[in-house]
Amino acid sequence: MNIVVTGGAGFIGGNFVYYMLRHHPQDTIICYDALTYAGNLATLEEAMKNDHFRFVKGDIADRTAVYKLFEEVKPDIVVNFAAESHVDRSIESPEIFLRTNVLGTQVLLDACRKYGITRFHQVSTDEVYGDLPIDRPDLFFTENTNLHASSPYSASKASADLMVLAYFRTYNVPVTISRCSNNYGPYHFPEKLIPLMIINALNNKKLPVYGAGENVRDWLYVEDHCSAIALILGKGRVGEVYNVGGHNEQKNIDVVRQILQILDRPETLIEHVTDRKGHDLRYAIDPTKIRNELGWQPTTKFAVGLKRTVEWYLANKTWWETIVNGEYQNYYEKMYGNRERRD
Ligand code: NAD
Ligand code: TYD
Repeated sequence: MNIVVTGGAGFIGGNFVYYMLRHHPQDTIICYDALTYAGNLATLEEAMKNDHFRFVKGDIADRTAVYKLFEEVKPDIVVNFAAESHVDRSIESPEIFLRTNVLGTQVLLDACRKYGITRFHQVSTDEVYGDLPIDRPDLFFTENTNLHASSPYSASKASADLMVLAYFRTYNVPVTISRCSNNYGPYHFPEKLIPLMIINALNNKKLPVYGAGENVRDWLYVEDHCSAIALILGKGRVGEVYNVGGHNEQKNIDVVRQILQILDRPETLIEHVTDRKGHDLRYAIDPTKIRNELGWQPTTKFAVGLKRTVEWYLANKTWWETIVNGEYQNYYEKMYGNRERRD
């Protein structure tokens, strides 16, 4: 089968490329990626050596380029990871989030309709459900929870999900959607919490925790997310949404402390700074449906996955040093330069 993986030069898409080359070696993976600031060809260096892998540079919102890709490649399956993915950037500049996440998804759906595919899979997020109260640990997101997005990022992902389901209902495009909780692991761009804290700690820089650090995220090792998507492609029912998560809720401050502990760095590096606007309190996935229907189970415990991730950043300094030595410096100054310290 020919599988187009959009956004495969990013964090989860890149891990998915390697997962598929390892577990489905008979398939051919075509990565289609615009190589925005978050896309990195270095992530795909090993994949490039594989005959069952091809890279095509292009924008999912560019209809001409997407149709050309479909004509050339004739994909059986399309897995859409391509997105603007960072909440803080969406608060600064929402427009690109609508263009890529909503219009880009719609262009891909049109191409699927025009050329015919056996599956279009949309990689979505638990953030489409909004947030849960911190003092109600009995509440979880299920597939039936109302969409209640908070940030321009999550609103754009929720809009895309609705469009995907509309193309199923209206045009019978065979779609599936996965809504996963926060991922962590190798190749994670250092603007996100875990890699940012690892890299700052390694550089003996302050670790900027938003507010009190009491917000809760439900962390899943990236390979477990990849195995869930592969399973949905194989056995998932079309028109269905599957929540993906491993019941691993952690307060941000506790995650940061664990990173410092692994790296043997002092907690005095932690600096509480101005909170994120509209900051979601708690995410927590109920994965009952994917477990019961498809038999999916996560395999990597947080303590093991976090240690492995820290070790990856230690062993792959060139990968992230190239990023943090470039345009990232301007980003960091813009995003963190004006955040006040909160004691
Ligand atoms: P990322 O920012 O690391 O990577 C995004 C990739 O998409 C990059 O390679 C970038 O170049 C590419 N891209 C961006 N705009 C594009 C465009 N217009 N055309 C083609 N390519 C484009 O993101 P990620 O963290 O790997 O997330 C991947 C997907 O998973 C996203 O759809 C995100 O919403 C979803 N998701 C992420 C998480 C998480 O914790 N990171 C959790 C659940 C769901
Ligand atoms: P992030 O990795 O941006 O993922 P998301 O916002 O999609 O959940 O942030 C995870 C949590 O960490 C979130 O509650 C915001 C917080 N955070 C900080 O406290 N400091 C930071 O520098 C960053 C990037 C995030």
